[in-house]
Amino acid sequence: MKRKLKHVAALVAILALSGAFSEGCTSPGTFTPGALWPDDRGEHINAHGGGILRHEGVYYWFGENKCDTTSNAQVGVMCYSSRNLTDWKYESVALAVSEDPSSEIVRGCIIERPKVIYNARTGKFVMWFHLELKGQGYQAARAAVAVSDTPAGPYEYLYSVRPNKGFYPENMSPEEIAALATLKAPEAYKSWSEEWRDAVRRGLFMKRDFDGGQMSRDMTLFVDDDGKAYHVFASEGNLTLDIAELSDDYLSHTGRYVRVDPAGHNEAPALFKRNGKYWMITSGCTGWAPNRARLLSADHIFGPWTRHDTPMVGPDSDITFGGQSTYVLKVDGKEDAYIFMADRWRPELPSDGRYIWLPIDFNEQGFPVITWRDSWSLSYFD
Ligand code: DGJ
Repeated sequence: MKRKLKHVAALVAILALSGAFSEGCTSPGTFTPGALWPDDRGEHINAHGGGILRHEGVYYWFGENKCDTTSNAQVGVMCYSSRNLTDWKYESVALAVSEDPSSEIVRGCIIERPKVIYNARTGKFVMWFHLELKGQGYQAARAAVAVSDTPAGPYEYLYSVRPNKGFYPENMSPEEIAALATLKAPEAYKSWSEEWRDAVRRGLFMKRDFDGGQMSRDMTLFVDDDGKAYHVFASEGNLTLDIAELSDDYLSHTGRYVRVDPAGHNEAPALFKRNGKYWMITSGCTGWAPNRARLLSADHIFGPWTRHDTPMVGPDSDITFGGQSTYVLKVDGKEDAYIFMADRWRPELPSDGRYIWLPIDFNEQGFPVITWRDSWSLSYFD
């Protein structure tokens, strides 16, 4: 009887797998961008807007849990682990939503784009994410932080903040700061007019939020070679990106920050460093719909940053192959190996959002170039 059950179970597993594969599914050792990507339980990985932490030879993928009906958080931040980047083991709900209605992360809030970094000084794993308070749409625009002693968690929620309250950006001169006094109130400008754009560039919304802290939505984290960590976020109503230094324990902002591409309207920042140069891939702002990516570069983390056109090439490159950037992963143990990670959102069935992972090439000028591939493996980098 037992043997019979075993056979039935094996048959069910084979059928389930073949069903999944017929829809186009990542097979072992292979990245299949846009396909279903089953974890060790056979379930499509549920870690959207994600990022990767590498710790002691293991990669940890953190991302938003998405359910079938809403993009609001019903579960929390998910964690999966892998040693080879294609086979992922479900680890845990690293940060669970709360059932306490007075909690900032109560079920039904919005939790987006979680990223985790390890702090060697404190031995703690630090998670930052974009938090929107329940029932307030995208108005709260807060950054939130949680901490754990182990990579997969559970993470303890600490607090949320509008960063850099009372600080001017470091890339505004004393003259530019003095000129803020000549700006009118935001309502006095016609949105998207040239005059408004110019005022945004000059700091219209930075000034508005100076006393209460800067808005913080789409985000990533970046740890530089010297161990300093930076929080990169869409601020000023998604019109400007801020790069802000984190404290030595990575748990707060120091007040040192720069405004990047003011009035450039960027979301989805993914920052990486190669041969001493900083690169950032971003998107435009079109909700869940894909758009043309952007590329920015700098010789120093605090800029100046220069904006370039999309690094995507070939068919559908103008819509980033249907995806939106979330992270660039440096592959360990391989020379010059970087993976572009993006989300193909599916707002009508959020849990079915897909992942687009593609290898990054670099042209003669050192610019990143990303081409669609139906499937590929890490041997691409050999
Ligand atoms: C685009 C952002 O990049 C996503 O993280 C999410 O906030 C959606 N907008 C919501 O429309």
